[in-house]
Amino acid sequence: MTCMGCHGMKAEGSRNFKAPRLAGQTPWYLKRQLVKFRDGVRGAHPQDLEGAQMAAMARMLRGTATDDVVAFLATLDPGRPPDAGGGNAANGAELFAICATCHGPSAEGLEAQKGPRLSHQHSWYLERQLSNFQEGRRGSHASDMEGQQMAAIADLVAYIQSLDQ
Ligand code: HEC
Ligand code: HEC
Repeated sequence: MTCMGCHGMKAEGSRNFKAPRLAGQTPWYLKRQLVKFRDGVRGAHPQDLEGAQMAAMARMLRGTATDDVVAFLATLDPGRPPDAGGGNAANGAELFAICATCHGPSAEGLEAQKGPRLSHQHSWYLERQLSNFQEGRRGSHASDMEGQQMAAIADLVAYIQSLDQ
């Protein structure tokens, strides 16, 4: 119930609150992010305002509450794919070949590589996370191994895009 205030009644995400869609995301990733927010590994950068907001929420989860809320989220239907943003899908498909090695061929998430599902997510959230990784607002904490890995890839994407201009 607490989460719905920002993430929506069906955890479909809310652009007004800048809160991503949680329905459809893989449980192992949700759990890891809640632990990172709680422990100050994500959302601790002074310029990460959205992350700081979420970290305060994660710190309220006690005992088995984290596992319980993740189990509940897994029961929700992600529904229709959300908005696709203003990009060019054909160009994106070429670039996605890099991403697929960690996020899976259909962006369904790949636990072995720790890459979360992306296919269910709002474009505005994905874009903000890529810029968070590029600018060090996410993935710069010394204990954030997965975030550091993704930050390196975000730099690579920025480089590839610069070649096109
Ligand atoms: C006050 C608003 C607010 C509330 C309440 C809230 N969240 Fe969030 N949550 C956010 C925002 C904003 C983000 C995006 C953070 C960012 O941009 O990095 C977020 C991100 C997340 C993420 C990361 C998703 C991803 O794809 O990486 C998870 C998981 C999450 N929230 C779970 C929860 C759960 C579970 C609850 C209830 C216990 C909850 N949130 C309550 C605002 C909120
Ligand atoms: C080397 C493996 C790897 C590659 C390649 C990779 N990623 Fe990631 N990505 C990750 C990992 C691991 C995470 C989770 C980081 C964490 O735990 O905080 C992640 C997280 C993300 C997130 C945040 C999702 C969320 O819900 O907050 C986005 C967006 C993302 N990746 C996009 C991409 C895109 C786009 C590409 C290709 C251009 C890509 N990734 C390539 C490993 C990778």
